[in-house]
Amino acid sequence: MIAARRVRTVAGVKAYPGLRARYPRAAGPFPKGVEMKVELVSPGAEPPRAETLLAVPIADPPDAGAAILRPVDRALDGLVTRAVDDGEIRGRAGEFTLFRAASTLGSAAGGRRAGDHLPGRVAVVGVGAGAVDDWRKAGSTVAAGARDLRADTARLSVSADVGPVEAGAFIDGFAAGQYRFDRFKGEDGDDPAPPPVALEISGGTALASDLSTAAATAKAVARARDLCNTPANHLTPPDFAEYARERSAAIEGLECEVLGEEELDAMGAGAMASVAHGSQYPPQLIILRYTPSAVAREGEILGVVGKAITFDTGGISIKPSGGMEEMKMDMGGGAAALESALLIAELGLPVPMITAIAAAENMPSGTATKPGDVVTALSGSTIEVINTDAEGRLVMADALTYLAEHGATRLIDFATLTGAIVVALGEVYAGLFGSDEEWTEDVRSAGEVSGDLCWPMPLHERYRPLIESDVADFANAAKKRQAGAVYAGMFLKEFTGGVPWCHVDIAGTAMVNGAGTGFGVRLMLALAQRLALTP
Ligand code: BES
Ligand code: MN
Ligand code: ZN
Repeated sequence: MIAARRVRTVAGVKAYPGLRARYPRAAGPFPKGVEMKVELVSPGAEPPRAETLLAVPIADPPDAGAAILRPVDRALDGLVTRAVDDGEIRGRAGEFTLFRAASTLGSAAGGRRAGDHLPGRVAVVGVGAGAVDDWRKAGSTVAAGARDLRADTARLSVSADVGPVEAGAFIDGFAAGQYRFDRFKGEDGDDPAPPPVALEISGGTALASDLSTAAATAKAVARARDLCNTPANHLTPPDFAEYARERSAAIEGLECEVLGEEELDAMGAGAMASVAHGSQYPPQLIILRYTPSAVAREGEILGVVGKAITFDTGGISIKPSGGMEEMKMDMGGGAAALESALLIAELGLPVPMITAIAAAENMPSGTATKPGDVVTALSGSTIEVINTDAEGRLVMADALTYLAEHGATRLIDFATLTGAIVVALGEVYAGLFGSDEEWTEDVRSAGEVSGDLCWPMPLHERYRPLIESDVADFANAAKKRQAGAVYAGMFLKEFTGGVPWCHVDIAGTAMVNGAGTGFGVRLMLALAQRLALTP
């Protein structure tokens, strides 16, 4: 019954009787992300509760006499100094050393001073050189430690020179350390999943608003990860559209419109539509419009495109079976585009945005697009489909054209587009391509600031022969096996209508060790924060 209602609420969806019965949806919230309770506490006023895990950072090289550690060391009768002297604590990023502080809470005996309050468990956690990645690692091990110790709260106590960037990175890591994808795991009687750990931050210069932004970001990243990790039978294109509708309905200034198969056909988006021809699910072009109450740069609209192939079998040009399950994450660009749009709107940033998520399933079947077929894109150009596994650029082409024609003054896209970028840059840097130097540099530096790293890759007219076809305006796959990621970028550029554009190929960074990373959400927030400053 619910299934029938769901199908009817999505624009352009054909009735597929019995389909939902074969693919029951898992019980439980969808997607749940992580619970992130983060609170700013003032160091003097509120001592930690006895059950709280207190975490105190230590740098590399370690100094037990540092101001933030001195009272802890004193309350532990010099154990921290001993551990440092013995070389047990080295201050490496993410190093976690646990001390049991029996009944020291509130005690002022011995050499301790009143105010040296300690809860029962204290962790000295390494922050290395204090770089953003170091704080992130520290957050992750504190979260894991707190979970192992069954602590319901962790408190990070930092010195006055620790700012919002470090605190934010710690929160990011803390959320990552708690993240689990266990929707499909049964209750484990002996070791039930521990409840989420709340985080308190005491000291430093971060404001409560900095912490809540970091917590909201961490939550958005976790939700993007959930979307990626969700199997393709539980996240079809109509499911994706329904989720986008539900989430955006709850956020002010955000409007969601879904273009289904009929709308795409009527509009002439033949490149995107062709990708879904082999699937029993219709394609869904999910459009989110964000109209903030205040605008930083009059007349500018940021256009964001995400590739959301909910499963990429390759189609008739079918992929080898080994590792094919990872292709449930071929919607990682769409997940980043969606969750970042929701986050930016939720935070109320003064940056008008239009987001297009191109959702489709790439399947082989008797109705699937075949190699050699020629399709007509929304731009009017014709494309010869040489390889049905180069489907990403087909859906992206129409989504980019749509945004260029609907008012976007800058474009950025996220797509798990090519295996070639994984070979070139691995899981550390995404590939960054752009048609405008300044805009590309904005994106690159937002990547640097946010930790979602992007490395500039070339586009040049001399690569153009790669995208030429003998029978159509373009071919979707090159005859030469070379520069695969550049080729895909050259192809996309043709569909940007001359609007300044960046393409982020996240095939290597959106999925790591068989799981989604949420890559792109943090980058988009940093980029929007930059555009929120008047030029
Ligand atoms: N979704 C894949 C790219 C991909 C590969 C993502 C590995 C993540 C990990 C994309 O649709 C694809 O199949 N690309 C082909 C293009 C080729 C047929 C021109 C590729 O890269 O091999
Ligand atoms: Mn493919
Ligand atoms: Zn793909």
